[in-house]
Amino acid sequence: MMIRGEKIDLRPMKPDEVPIFYKWAIESGYWYSKDRKPSLDEFRADWKAYYFDGSAPEKGRCFMIEVNNVAIGVVAYNDIHYVHKRVELDIVIGNEEDCGKGYGTDALKTLVRYLFDKFDLNRIWIVARANNPRSIRAYEKAGFIQEGVHREEDYFNGEFVDCVYYSIIRRQL
Ligand SMILES: CC(C)(COP(=O)(O)OP(=O)(O)OC[C@H]1O[C@@H](n2cnc3c(N)ncnc32)[C@H](O)[C@@H]1OP(=O)(O)O)[C@@H](O)C(=O)NCCC(=O)NCCS
Repeated sequence: MMIRGEKIDLRPMKPDEVPIFYKWAIESGYWYSKDRKPSLDEFRADWKAYYFDGSAPEKGRCFMIEVNNVAIGVVAYNDIHYVHKRVELDIVIGNEEDCGKGYGTDALKTLVRYLFDKFDLNRIWIVARANNPRSIRAYEKAGFIQEGVHREEDYFNGEFVDCVYYSIIRRQL
C-alpha cells in the first residue's frame, strides 16, 4: 500500500526497519534529550511491534516517508482515542540535507488526509518544542492551528522548554 502525496509517498514501515528509525530519531537531536537517549531495546519497548506490523491499526502505525522510492524519514500516528475521536502524530526526517524541502509538510498533510478518510476522527494533534521553529513552520504550513502552550513542559538538553500544541479539526478542512 502506498499513500501518495505531492512530493513524497508514505508506505507502512516494516519490523526490520526499526533500527533505521531509531538511528534517525537519535541523530535528529530533536527527539531525545542529550542525556536521555534510549537504547535500541528501550526504543523498541516504546514503539510496540504493532506500529510496524500493522496488527493493530487503531493503536498506531509508522510510515516511511519516501522520495522517489528512497526512505528519508518516518511519520506516525499513535493510539486512536475512539471516545474523543482524536489522535497524535510524530515526525522525523533522518538527514539534515532532506530537511527544509517541503517533505515534512507534505508527509503531515498526506497522513492527515489518510487518517480523516480512514478513521472516525475529529481532532489530529501534534506538539512542537518552542525552540524548534522549523517544526512549527512545517506544522503551520500543513494546516495545523496553534492551540496553546504548555509552559516548561519538557526538560530538554539541560533546560525547561515550552511545548506548543497544534491541531487540525475535521470541520476545518
Ligand atoms: C520538523 C521536520 C519534520 C519538518 O520537516 P521539513 O521537511 O524540514 O519541513 P518543510 O521543509 O516542509 O518546512 C520547514 C519550514 O521551516 C522553515 N524553517 C527552517 N528553519 C527555520 C528556522 N530556524 N526558523 C523558522 N523557520 C525555519 C523552512 O524555511 C520551511 O518553511 P518555508 O517553506 O516557508 O520556507 C523536519 O525538519 C525534522 O524532522 N526535523 C528533525 C526532527 C524534528 O524536529 N521533529 C519534530 C519535533 S520532535
